[in-house]
Amino acid sequence: MKAALIVRNGSPDKAFEIRDVEHPKPQAHEICIEVEAFGLNYADVMARLGLYQDAPPLPAIVGYEVVGRIHELGTDVKDKEVGQRVVAMTRFGGYAEYAVTDARAVAIIPEDMDAGKATALATQYGTAYYAAEEMSRLHEGDHILIHAAAGGVGTALVQLARWRGCTIFGTAGSDEKLDYLKAQGVHYPINYRKQDFVREIEKVVGDRGLDVVFDSIGGNYIKKGLKLLGAGGRIIGYGAASMTGKNLFGKIGVALGFGFHSPISLLTHSKSIIGVNMLRIADHRPLVIKRCLENVVRLTEEGILNPVVGGTFDFENIADAHALLESRKSMGKIVVYVRK
Ligand SMILES: NC(=O)c1ccc[n+]([C@@H]2O[C@H](COP(=O)([O-])OP(=O)(O)OC[C@H]3O[C@@H](n4cnc5c(N)ncnc54)[C@H](OP(=O)(O)O)[C@@H]3O)[C@@H](O)[C@H]2O)c1
Repeated sequence: MKAALIVRNGSPDKAFEIRDVEHPKPQAHEICIEVEAFGLNYADVMARLGLYQDAPPLPAIVGYEVVGRIHELGTDVKDKEVGQRVVAMTRFGGYAEYAVTDARAVAIIPEDMDAGKATALATQYGTAYYAAEEMSRLHEGDHILIHAAAGGVGTALVQLARWRGCTIFGTAGSDEKLDYLKAQGVHYPINYRKQDFVREIEKVVGDRGLDVVFDSIGGNYIKKGLKLLGAGGRIIGYGAASMTGKNLFGKIGVALGFGFHSPISLLTHSKSIIGVNMLRIADHRPLVIKRCLENVVRLTEEGILNPVVGGTFDFENIADAHALLESRKSMGKIVVYVRK
């Protein structure tokens, strides 16, 4: 079968090669999927740049999710059938014609669900659901801040927060993205390149503070987020995009920027810092992945969630897809079609 491999770290045009590789075989608890499309995630960019510690050694097939049909079942898998159309979270291996994953990370989707939208449901909507519904429990009237709100996870968080009746502040890096955020229902879209987001939010919330901050940027954004929280507030840290493009000293600066936070201070002010890493959850709590995935598929079928596809590419143009995601210009999900 064909797969897109990262063969060296660096720019997209030099990093990828499409090669013939061995067809994957499911173990007893796994499922093999004939891939229709796979999605891109920012972690793939970090892996290509050599900035992602969990990425497999090169040459590597990365890819966190696929949409397709069940091709083969492991001997222990009893609740699925060959031929069913599914979305699946993959622990790498998604950039290929066939992908294998744990059966608990596979959810059945309707025949007429758009493949591109469905790819967004696995990692980006799954992460957003876990962060918003399970780790922070949003309530009507909560005031929340979402960084990189126009991105894949960001869009999913916006839609979940709208559903829960929150007042939403969302940051993004261009006016075009602010228009997108307004259309998605963000009450206070903020272009962080032009406005100081802390000051803009303080103007609105005053002493009340925020209830939740969703942070994928890291570094001193965590300190700023904590300062914006009111009593009972929590910050969900799930990324460190600010590491991108930094040399060693820059990375140390970002790491120190996170700050050192005493549990005594958190307890006294009734604030929380919550870390989310879906790979760790997949390793140790696979049923959580199953629950989150099934819930986002259901909410999409009910019309509550509606993933946005911000770019579609053919398999051969994987480098262009990566360049778009790295450019910070993309909105919503970037999808690569393996078969049409
Ligand atoms: N912990 C987990 O399990 C988990 C799971 C999924 C995703 N994530 C993380 O969630 C974040 C979003 O992932 P995604 O796939 O949905 O990507 P995305 O948000 O579609 O794309 C990344 C966006 O981050 C923003 N950004 C802000 N500062 C940046 C910087 N210094 N360098 C690069 N980008 C920057 C850019 O938008 P603006 O400039 O407009 O803000 C960019 O478009 C990533 O940090 C990813 O690693 C974590």
